[in-house]
Amino acid sequence: MTDTKHTDDVTGVDTTGHQWDDIRELNNPLPKWWVYSFYACIVWSVLYWIVMPAWPIFMNGAWTYTGGVIGYDQRVVVENDIAEVAAGRQVFLDQINAQDLPTIQQNAELMEVALAGGRAAFGDNCAPCHGSGAQGSPGFPNLNDDDWIWGGSLEDIHVTLKHGIRWEADDDTRFNDMPRYLTDEILTAGQVSDVTDYVLTLSGTAEVTEASTRGAEIFARECTTCHMDGGIGNRELGAPNLADAIWLYGGDRASVYESVANARAGQMPAWGDRLDPVTVKQLALYVHALGGGE
Ligand code: HEC
Ligand code: HEC
Repeated sequence: MTDTKHTDDVTGVDTTGHQWDDIRELNNPLPKWWVYSFYACIVWSVLYWIVMPAWPIFMNGAWTYTGGVIGYDQRVVVENDIAEVAAGRQVFLDQINAQDLPTIQQNAELMEVALAGGRAAFGDNCAPCHGSGAQGSPGFPNLNDDDWIWGGSLEDIHVTLKHGIRWEADDDTRFNDMPRYLTDEILTAGQVSDVTDYVLTLSGTAEVTEASTRGAEIFARECTTCHMDGGIGNRELGAPNLADAIWLYGGDRASVYESVANARAGQMPAWGDRLDPVTVKQLALYVHALGGGE
């Protein structure tokens, strides 16, 4: 129902002219602060369209947007942020480059950067052979344990990584070839079998027998130059310990026989040729910290 406008008795304010069951609506003006904020928003929005990227537009056959006069671009902002972080990291990488490994190891802040970098580089370069947790597999040594073929000190590991193993690289490359006893007819099949039996007694995997006793003599003659008396191994020569029940190529009789008959000659690339020196250092620190480092 409509009503004619009139002035409310109590407040002295005009009504809108609407009334419902005698209840009338006062026509109070909007508060000034509200009206001005409203106008300010309109002005702001127009300025914003002009200054900042705002409206989608269809131009030259493709959708794009009005770029705004100051050329603001969130992609550029993100790129700048990333560059800033990289510059911050570079400071640490320069220090890793300049300092020697034991000094870096004393520096908790540098170690944090080195271990993170080492972990990432390990995933990219080493995991295919050594496993993502460096747990190894037949032919590829476990790098978490303290059983080292070539040595587990920081320096040893660094040399191994930088120069590789049985890899055509340089004078520091780890190199030692076990003879192929059966293939190259140094021993007969029977002798290889006997010495295999002896090798298995070293780790307590097999009982001493007549055959293993014959094998012991062959071992003393042929094998101790590299594997030492009792088969304890020699890191200088990269000859694995045969007495510790940890096997690179498997400790069952057939695998040990194969190792003696044909030798294995596992190879690892020289990472100094493939990765930058800072990454190789980070990898050495990472591998050393895996748990077996000496
Ligand atoms: C193509 C396969 C392959 C890749 C890739 C590889 N390795 Fe190796 N690595 C080997 C083999 C095989 C051996 C054992 C060689 C031997 O018989 O002495 C080895 C040995 C090692 C050793 C010596 C272990 C010891 O007991 O002395 C270290 C340390 C090592 N690798 C670290 C790494 C790191 C770090 C990477 C990545 C940068 C890597 N490896 C990538 C195959 C590989
Ligand atoms: C010239 C040094 C040398 C001599 C001599 C030598 N070995 Fe080896 N042996 C090695 C090296 C190095 C390896 C590691 C091979 C590799 O990683 O490819 C090895 C590996 C082995 C393995 C495999 C170990 C594992 O963990 O799987 C067995 C078994 C073995 N040798 C037995 C013998 C026996 C038995 C003889 C003597 C008949 C012998 N070796 C003589 C250097 C030698």
